[in-house]
Amino acid sequence: MDSRPSPQGVVAGSIPLFAGHPAHELLPIAAVREIVDSIWAQADRTRLFNYGDEQGNRQLIDFLAARLQRSENLAVCRENVMIIGGSTWGVDMITHHLAEPGDTILVDAPSYRDALHIFRDAKLDVESIAIGAGGVAVDEMERRLRDLASRGRLPKFYYVVPNFQNPTGITLSRERRQAIVDLSKAYGFAIVEDDVYRDIRFVDDLPPSFYASSRGENVLRLGTFSKTLAPGLRIGWLIGSAETVERFVSSGMLRMGGGANPFTAAIVADYCSSGRWEEHVVWLRNQYKYRRDCALAALDAAMPHSAQWTRPDGGYFIWLRLPENVTVDELEGLAKAENVYFASGKGFFVHPEEGAHHLRLSFSYVPLEDLKSGIAILGRVVQTARRQRKASRARRK
Ligand SMILES: Cc1ncc(COP(=O)(O)O)c(C=O)c1O
Repeated sequence: MDSRPSPQGVVAGSIPLFAGHPAHELLPIAAVREIVDSIWAQADRTRLFNYGDEQGNRQLIDFLAARLQRSENLAVCRENVMIIGGSTWGVDMITHHLAEPGDTILVDAPSYRDALHIFRDAKLDVESIAIGAGGVAVDEMERRLRDLASRGRLPKFYYVVPNFQNPTGITLSRERRQAIVDLSKAYGFAIVEDDVYRDIRFVDDLPPSFYASSRGENVLRLGTFSKTLAPGLRIGWLIGSAETVERFVSSGMLRMGGGANPFTAAIVADYCSSGRWEEHVVWLRNQYKYRRDCALAALDAAMPHSAQWTRPDGGYFIWLRLPENVTVDELEGLAKAENVYFASGKGFFVHPEEGAHHLRLSFSYVPLEDLKSGIAILGRVVQTARRQRKASRARRK
């Protein structure tokens, strides 16, 4: 059972299979401490206690631009990158720059819950399109776009988590990405690519990003150190056209805000420039892959055949479809009584009832033993829920 300090609503002593952040033992605390000590020893350290460049830490921007060129052969230069206080911060900033209350946007069904909150806060009209094994249904997207065009309600942007999506773990196929880029050009909407799981991949290759496929045109791509370093540092990055980056950098918040988190950005910049981040990412992939394998083996052993789940090639999450006659609401109560918590599918949909038979399991956070026993308990409570359903149906007959 988990008795560690409890972030984000984790109940002490429970098995929080909903928690979508790194396990404590996967945080490079000692290495970050060394970086902080070395920064502390520098004569000019007081600069870090002041505002920084609006675009963000220069060393980190140059590191990221060089990495994108090296690993993805992307023509990205300093003007295309800015440092932000995490990807969610970026989604919020983009939303407020690209859309106004009442505007339409497109998202996947299901989609990242906290982004849906941001879109709701901004009072946007959110159109959701179902996803399957290869990602969003492009035919349906096209049909929806034609309909929206006929009503003069074309979307301002499409928000997507292209790799190992939160909550399903699904990766959008290469063909669909290209088809969506074509649709974005034909119908004039931007693509907001929230690519926070790209580096947690268990396969060698990924389809080219939207940013690569469209050569940076009308695409904003987000990345973060939350998944591969530490979420508490609150540092991420945005890639876009030089004009868009300039527009964001000149926005009121950054002008006076003095750039995103200069102190922690300096720590992250040194950590990355020393080569340690790349090494850590390689190590992490193996750790998470092992966790994914344990979770899948536990599901295979515990779940009835009528349940279905995704087998992600990366990221943090598995998406489970419950047997037809079991709802996530009844399962939540039964699992809670056993001290096991998961993320109900309902929170990931614009129309919550679409998630009534789904749940998200995270293999990133809980200790391995809890991951296995938590899934075993879930399997048992699914069986209990099925039996209860059958018994109540028999009584009604
Ligand atoms: C799709 C997606 N975007 C953004 C985030 C959060 O990133 P950050 O900590 O950089 O705000 C998460 C984390 O759960 C996520 O799954």
